[in-house]
Parts: sequence; C-alpha cells; structure tokens
Amino acid sequence: MSTVSDLISSQVFDPEVYGSGDPTTFGLPLDLYQHMRDHEPVVHIELDHPILIDSVWVVSRHEDISAIDRDPQTWASNIKHPLIWNYAPLDPQTKPGLIVQDGDEHKTKRAMVGRGFRPARVQQLEQTFRKYAKQVVDVALEKREINFVDDVAHLMPVQALGDILGVPEADRAQFFTWVDTFASPFDERVATAPEKVGQALMELWSYGLDQVRQRDAAPTDDVFNQIAEMHVGDDEVQGNVALFASGAAETTRAALCHGMHELMRNPEQMAWLRERQHDIPPTVAQEFVRIGNAIISLCRVATRDVELHGRTIREGEQVAMLFAAGNFDERALENPRAFDLARDPNPHLGFGRGVHACLGKHVAALEMKVLLEELFTRTKEIRPTGEIDYLKDNYSRGVYSLPVELIPA
Ligand code: HEM
Repeated sequence: MSTVSDLISSQVFDPEVYGSGDPTTFGLPLDLYQHMRDHEPVVHIELDHPILIDSVWVVSRHEDISAIDRDPQTWASNIKHPLIWNYAPLDPQTKPGLIVQDGDEHKTKRAMVGRGFRPARVQQLEQTFRKYAKQVVDVALEKREINFVDDVAHLMPVQALGDILGVPEADRAQFFTWVDTFASPFDERVATAPEKVGQALMELWSYGLDQVRQRDAAPTDDVFNQIAEMHVGDDEVQGNVALFASGAAETTRAALCHGMHELMRNPEQMAWLRERQHDIPPTVAQEFVRIGNAIISLCRVATRDVELHGRTIREGEQVAMLFAAGNFDERALENPRAFDLARDPNPHLGFGRGVHACLGKHVAALEMKVLLEELFTRTKEIRPTGEIDYLKDNYSRGVYSLPVELIPA
C-alpha cells in the first residue's frame, strides 16, 4: 500500500510534476507542499532516477529552511554539491566555487567578488540596463506577437549579465545556450540528447577558463577579472564561472516569466502595476521572485546528528531546503497563495538566507525593474495569446514558452 511518504517521494522532485504544473497554482504542487509542512515537515525520501541522488531529507517549513541556511556550522555546503542531481557544475571536491565553500575560505572569496554587487555599485548599472531594456522592447514591439520567454525575459539577463561577467557581446548567445543546455537535463526540447548536457558544460568550462586567464595579462572590470584575482586553480575558476553563469541568467528569466504570467491572470495586479509603471516599487521584483521559485531547492550536509521535528538526521546525510514550499508557508507569510505586488514584508526564501544568500539579488531586482518599466510605459496592453508551457525540471523552474501580444502605447 502506498503511503503519503511514497507520494512525496514520487512527486516532490518529479520533473513531470513541474513540467505539467497547474498554471492556477503558480505551476507548483502547492497542496502537496502544504501537506508536507503540516504533517511531514522533515521527511526522508528515496529518489529513483539515474541522474538524481539516491535519497535525501526534505525540509519544507519556512522557519526550518531559514534556520538551516543560517547555520553553516551544522549544515555544510563544502562536503557535497547542493543539487538533488548526482552531478553538478560545481562540486566541493572537483570543481569548487563560492556556493560549495564554507568558513573563512568562503568569506574571503565572497568578499573579493562581492564588491561589484553592493547596492551602490549596482545602482550605477541602471543606465546600461535601460539601454538594453529599450533594445529588447524595440524588437519585441516590432514583432508584436512574441514568446515572452525568448523575446524578452531571456534577452535582458543575457545582455546585463554578459556585461557584468565580461562575456564579449558576440559570444553571449552561445554562452547562455551552454548554460541552458546543462541546466535542463530533463527537458528534451532543450537538452536534445543526453550527451549534449555534458558537452555544453565542458564547453562552458573551457570558454570560461580561457576568458579568466586572459584577464591575467589584460585586467578588466568584470566578474571574470575578479575570479582571476582570486589566484585559484583551473577547477575553481571553472566552478565559479559555472556558478555565475547558471545562477544569474536563467533565474532572472524564470522570475520574470512567472511574474508576467501572474500579471496576466490577475487584472487588478496588472492595473496596480500600470499605475506605477514609471517607477516600479521594489516589492514587485520580490514578489516575482517569491512566486517564481527559480530554484526549487538546495541541499546541505549535516555535520553532526540533528533532531528535527522528532526525526534524526545523521551526520553526513543530505537535507534539501525546499524553498518553493517555504515561500508558501502561511506560518511566515500572510495569504501566501495570493499574488500581491505590494506585499510588505515579504520574507521570501527565493534568494536564500545566511552566508550563501544570493550575491546577485540587487542586480536581478534592478534588471526586473528597468525591464518592466520599459515594457509597461511603451505598451497599452500585454495580453496572453496561448497557455504557459513550463520546462520539465525538478531543480530550476524555467518556462519554455509564454505567448503574448504587445499592444503599443
Ligand atoms: C531572480 C534571480 C535570482 C534568483 C532567484 C537567485 C537565487 C539564488 C539562490 C536561492 C541562491 C542560494 C542561496 C542560499 O544558499 O542561501 C543564490 C546564490 C547565488 N547567486 Fe543568485 N539568484 C538570482 C540572480 C543572481 C544573479 C543575477 C547573480 C549574479 C550576477 C547571482 C549570483 C549568485 C551567486 C554567486 C550565489 C552564491 C553565493 C554564495 O554562495 O556565497 N544570482 N542565488
């Protein structure tokens, strides 16, 4: 007889569940998450798939996820990589990088790359972002009927992050195609053959290493240069390139797509935003990130035996912080199933918490604000022309297509 735990095991990380998600519940299995939070806030599940780890503890309440993310002494990042997949573009043993490091090593290196991500520095990027946003909207308006994913939400981070990382303009399309391919192993529309996934990752690593090493001779003012200044080995250079490339573009694109989809489903929220379209408040990007859940979960490893809600997690076992469930926890958020652009406070977990909290969160928020301002001020209406089609995945929450029509202002 199958139990609720079996149901959780079979569904919570099933790519099909997310690929065929219900658009009226943000594409997420919200009832399953609610059941987990209420009845099995800590549950041990087996995963039966060739590219997934064998088993993992899953934690679904907001409070528990925050506590784990804020306690790196008990919940280490530097023992195993943080994905529920059995491979990752970063790994503490073979391809180190910020997100799989801890303690002083992490602190020092994060400070080195962190300079360019402080709010005051990020604010200086606004004019450049606006230039890119205008270009993106120009082309989209020409076409009028577009796939919002490819024609808008993808192009903005490609250009903005291309600048920040230091990817030459001519290489940006290729660079981010590698990222998309290795980051979507389950969706055959993106990773058209299994060997393409590994191949894309190898090419990205090789390209990134080359770019970073070029900075040794000719320094620049970008992330590739900051990685060069860490003076680390080739593997660590490649791990960090993969982290910045994958952490940056697909996440922002996903948040924008899920947010736009909700706007079209909620006319009163659309009207609220239109009233503020010349200066979009910061709460908007935060709500896009909360409901978007670009990263469904990340794992940590217990450094000692821990009791949590009556279960014992043994030293060395992996725990998945199910951010997507925490973001709908009514213990922490008022009316969490409502899409509320004015939500304040909005203690979402979409950017994580603690020492590993997203380094690029101010960049992502600015990209979204600027792009939405351009898009809204230059359109009279944005309306759906088809259904949203989600990517089939269990780690990142991409959108494959979102057909819309832009009616010029
Ligand atoms: C909406 C867009 C984004 C989302 C939802 C997002 C989400 C996240 C999450 C959940 C984490 C892990 C946090 C934790 O473990 O507590 C993270 C870490 C990170 N993110 Fe983002 N991210 C976004 C955009 C960006 C951008 C634009 C960049 C870079 C320009 C970036 C760079 C990073 C880096 C470097 C880390 C690792 C930090 C560390 O380990 O110290 N992210 N992000």
